[in-house]
Amino acid sequence: MVTRCRYGIESERHDGNRLFSRMDHRVYSDAMNLSFVRPNIRSMQGYTPGEQPGVGERVVKLNTNENPFPPSPRVMQAIRDIEPEQLRRYPNPTADVFREAAARLWNITPDMILAGNGSDDILTIATRTFVPPGGALAYPDPTYSLYSVLARIEDARTITLSWEKNWDLPVDALLRSGANAIYVANPNAPSGTFVSPARISELIEKFDGLVLIDEAYADFAEDNCVSLASKYDNVVVSRSFSKAYSLAGLRFGYAIANPTIIQQMMKVKDSYNCDAISIAAATAALLDQDHARMTWTHVKQERERLSSELTEIGFEVLPSQANFLFAKVPDGDGTGMYKALKALGILVRHFDRPGLKEYLRITIGTSQENNALLSGIRELLGKKQVA
Ligand SMILES: Cc1ncc(COP(=O)(O)O)c(C=O)c1O
Repeated sequence: MVTRCRYGIESERHDGNRLFSRMDHRVYSDAMNLSFVRPNIRSMQGYTPGEQPGVGERVVKLNTNENPFPPSPRVMQAIRDIEPEQLRRYPNPTADVFREAAARLWNITPDMILAGNGSDDILTIATRTFVPPGGALAYPDPTYSLYSVLARIEDARTITLSWEKNWDLPVDALLRSGANAIYVANPNAPSGTFVSPARISELIEKFDGLVLIDEAYADFAEDNCVSLASKYDNVVVSRSFSKAYSLAGLRFGYAIANPTIIQQMMKVKDSYNCDAISIAAATAALLDQDHARMTWTHVKQERERLSSELTEIGFEVLPSQANFLFAKVPDGDGTGMYKALKALGILVRHFDRPGLKEYLRITIGTSQENNALLSGIRELLGKKQVA
């Protein structure tokens, strides 16, 4: 069904379970005079998030790296305990209850923490604080595609450097880039690969600008870089509640850095970037480490099982320290496999770009979800062999 609306064409594709609905603004924007829009915004592409089916739609959702388990029961209790007065008033602008809890967890001081509306908010604040218009942001590529979007919004350049062999950090090339800031996702997305804190320290020690270590997936890894935020002045570590704490729908993340760096970032953030509910819920989640760790243990066990079963089927699976796998499909037809799985109601992530399109990025689900994925893949490969 296609319907006209005030700002363009709203198109909805009905294929049984109404997965896709989007606004197509091109019809009107092509005809409009957009000279009052900043040229860098006019010419850029926005970030494309993964597909989000509506609540209740029955799909096996392994495409946006959510935790397959529900959040801690203490989170739900904290939300139920919210008083009307907490909603009538503005929230605490710096989420101090959360900062104190996180400081205790990491054995640092609360002034080393800045709370954000998801770790994307932390990345936005960091880019606005450290990457000037006309400046440059460097990162190893491929990585999280939001980085380039954030740089473009600041009217800054991006400098992308290829990963070294075995997804090692291109330290020398990054140092030669002359960028104002370097972003490193660790574990990286979409590869899931991990760089040791010692290797990242080599970069930090020789670099004059800011190094941001995006640790959205670090709770599923064997190590992390939090201690580097205490050791070096030019480091920001960003953390997410979307994966490790099963709270992607809540929107909460935080940064850890030297107090002076945090003070600078505080000037840039929206005054009330985290709402009262998310502050209470994220604090409750952080305080229930037992629950969170139980989910990490299960995800890591399933990661090893899925990785070896996919390898047996003929996939080439990269070593992952995240809650997803990046796997090359046996005949290299990633696009075909992605579409065929989707037709079976199994969503995985596919990147239609050279060097990546032979791969699927598969979130680790519950054992049942992973089994459904494996059966779907076996069925599709079986059909191909017969054909
Ligand atoms: C590497 C990386 N960093 C940050 C994020 C954003 O996380 P959040 O939901 O906390 O904004 C993602 C989301 O997928 C990610 O893959």
